[in-house]
Amino acid sequence: MSIVKVVFFSGSGNTKALAEAVHKGAAKSAESELMEVTGEMIENGRFKNEGFLEKLDKADAIIFGSPTYMGMVSGQMKCFFDGTSQRWFQGAWNSKFAAGFTTSLGLSGDKQSTLSYMATFAFQHGMIWIGCDTPNELFQGKSMEEATNRLSSNTGVMSQVNFGDEYKPTPGDLKTGELLGERVAKYANNK
Ligand SMILES: Cc1cc2nc3c(=O)[nH]c(=O)nc-3n(C[C@H](O)[C@H](O)[C@H](O)COP(=O)(O)O)c2cc1C
Repeated sequence: MSIVKVVFFSGSGNTKALAEAVHKGAAKSAESELMEVTGEMIENGRFKNEGFLEKLDKADAIIFGSPTYMGMVSGQMKCFFDGTSQRWFQGAWNSKFAAGFTTSLGLSGDKQSTLSYMATFAFQHGMIWIGCDTPNELFQGKSMEEATNRLSSNTGVMSQVNFGDEYKPTPGDLKTGELLGERVAKYANNK
């Protein structure tokens, strides 16, 4: 059974809800773990949690999640990504599978920029990026709430969430996340 890690930051819970869905999908066939990046892991602007990174060294696949902040990953996730530079020197994460997901307020909100950055990060490490192949079920007549991949994103999973505690990713967005987790686990198990 392969090892999948779902690494994410979430300020107000939307990305965490999506991370849980991704983890649920991955856990169907792999040993999956949710790993939350927190502000406490960052000291003087540097990600300082070697134990966190060592766990990722053992993973077959890592799925990254972040809210879109100002058209990019959150600062906390960027600190985490920067904290992996020693692994880059060593080529330690070469050929691990990678994938990504993001949430934002705007229908676009520049989420593509966030996912594109995550993919660039993965390519720098020599990781193998797995996109989202889930069809947009709006085209099959499903509602905005229930449709998978309603934002037609293939680089990774996008969820748009309205502002306010009463809003969370739609059931369709969560299903899309779950399917990404399943897909990554399938590839990791067959490598
Ligand atoms: C500092 C900051 C910057 C944000 N920038 C964007 C943005 O560029 N585009 C967008 O659509 N939403 C933006 N948002 C809204 C968040 O992306 C959105 O609320 C997201 O779902 C929050 O995820 P979380 O609950 O996991 O923290 C921003 C929110 C914050 C706090």
